[in-house]
Amino acid sequence: MSIQAIILLGAPGAGKGTMAEAIRSATTFIHVSTGDMLREAIKAGTLVGREAEAFMRQGELVPDEIILKIVMERLERGAPDAQYMFDGFPRTLEQARLLDAEFARRGAKLINVFLLDVSREVSLERLGGRLICRRCDANFHVRNIPPKTAGVCDNCGGELSQRPDDSRATILKRLEVFQQQTAGLIAYYAKRGVLQRVDSSGPRAETVADIMKRLQ
Ligand code: AP5
Repeated sequence: MSIQAIILLGAPGAGKGTMAEAIRSATTFIHVSTGDMLREAIKAGTLVGREAEAFMRQGELVPDEIILKIVMERLERGAPDAQYMFDGFPRTLEQARLLDAEFARRGAKLINVFLLDVSREVSLERLGGRLICRRCDANFHVRNIPPKTAGVCDNCGGELSQRPDDSRATILKRLEVFQQQTAGLIAYYAKRGVLQRVDSSGPRAETVADIMKRLQ
């Protein structure tokens, strides 16, 4: 058996990370989030982290060569029959084309690209209320998915805070960058016959159930 993969594609705040966590816990897919990998690199103070930080703080995309380097390194470390779930990757046509070339080289198969569809209003509301645990990175929302105790992580008791790129101005920039640089991937994958559009604006459990049904 060779590598298989699915992609979670969607605007900032569409729920990619939230869906990925639910799918990961119910399947054998390995969650590969380029956003998480970059935030870990920043925390660890690595060269990749130092190169990426300014782009992320401004809501710009990190250059393709940095992203492709960390993704290819991750694939190298994985088993030859691993099942990957990419979250937030690819994000440009260049990244998509190079992923295709790498998959062709490895005989790997892209099973599905799930487009998590939400309106701009939903993205703004979700990102404006998102809370992240400083210790374990668990994800909450002040109203939609609130922690049991305000400001405290349900999983580890860590302190919850806003992500540095979730200020109003940076959220608006990220939404603009999505339209300009990532939305083109919708047509790219539709043409390949692998795109599945999922309404991601309802309650979390409904969207998870919809994706799980399509995966079976
Ligand atoms: P990344 O971390 O990937 O951020 P993003 O794409 O902007 O997406 P988010 O994580 O903000 O949103 P999400 O869709 O995961 O939503 P979530 O589940 O958290 O990237 C960050 C930065 O890194 C980029 O700006 C760029 O600089 C760089 N980068 C990363 N990958 C790159 C790449 N490939 N190329 C170049 N640069 C790259 O949900 C949001 C909130 O809503 C949460 O509070 C959640 O609890 C809540 N929520 C989720 N689902 C629901 C629901 N169904 N109902 C109610 N509330 C919900």
